Amino acid sequence: MKDSPILIVGKNAKTGWRVEQRLKEMGLDTRGVSRSTSPAFDWEDQDTWRAAMENTRSAYITFHPDLAIPAAEQAIRDFVALAVELGLEHLVLLSGRGEDGARRAEIALQECGLDWNIVRANWFMQNFSESFMVEGILGGELRLPAGDTVEPFVDVDDIADVAVAALTRPELRNRVFEVSGPRAMTFAQCVAAISKATGYPVKYTQVPVERFIDGMRDEGAPEPLLWLMHELFTVVFDGRNAIPVSGVQEALGRPATDFDAYVARVVKSGAWDRQGLREIS
Ligand SMILES: NC(=O)c1ccc[n+]([C@@H]2O[C@H](COP(=O)([O-])OP(=O)(O)OC[C@H]3O[C@@H](n4cnc5c(N)ncnc54)[C@H](OP(=O)(O)O)[C@@H]3O)[C@@H](O)[C@H]2O)c1
Repeated sequence: MKDSPILIVGKNAKTGWRVEQRLKEMGLDTRGVSRSTSPAFDWEDQDTWRAAMENTRSAYITFHPDLAIPAAEQAIRDFVALAVELGLEHLVLLSGRGEDGARRAEIALQECGLDWNIVRANWFMQNFSESFMVEGILGGELRLPAGDTVEPFVDVDDIADVAVAALTRPELRNRVFEVSGPRAMTFAQCVAAISKATGYPVKYTQVPVERFIDGMRDEGAPEPLLWLMHELFTVVFDGRNAIPVSGVQEALGRPATDFDAYVARVVKSGAWDRQGLREIS
């Protein structure tokens, strides 16, 4: 088992590929899986799980679409039971701060008898550059029902570093690492920072939550995603996650990455490049 690969569930997810890349750079054997890999792993098809999981020694687990959805707890319970049966030694779960559903899934992991870690994260900075908010940034207007909620967004490169530390340093096992960025910001402040760094105008516009959800439904978003967005913007974004936490420092002995450093990196990468728009004077 010691020489078996480390399983990464969510090979193409925002943290998953980064974790796999880091482990490979350390010379460790990995098996990244998702619906498009061989063997495949589909959270909605348990028949795919055994072949993906067998003969692995530990796992980094990202649930799709989000650990907060009602189906997540049972899925994680079933995953953990199979991990015990297959003889995995250690499970590291990516979780979300302030989400009751995610907390129930975490408990399934903590009670399973295997070594565990939980990396409990604030909202990802990369939602602005690698996820559903990119379109708004590139289009010059981010429309969300987030109000003046402040969030200490976390850099997913920090999350990947913490997950890799948990996977590779036995002295860190059986601990929760709560990870955030160093300062809480409103969505309007984030957008202003992006606008300043990119040199093109982007504004934040507040929209009523029901109109936002209706818009996503009209674009064909699946029901679990609609449920999730409603839960996030009506329950989770009530200020409960506003205080920055120290999990990056605890696991890595260095401070968490600031939003401005993330923005500078994305600008350099070209991910927010767009053509034909006037520059801010
Ligand atoms: N986004 C945030 O701000 C945030 C904050 C805290 C915690 N989290 C946690 O992060 C997790 C989501 O991570 P993420 O945002 O990095 O994910 P993501 O980037 O949205 O993951 C996308 C990948 O998931 C795979 N996938 C889609 N459906 C799947 C299924 N049914 N079974 C297996 N794989 C599937 C897809 O690859 P294939 O097409 O190859 O299957 C896709 O490339 C959630 O568990 C959430 O609780 C997120």
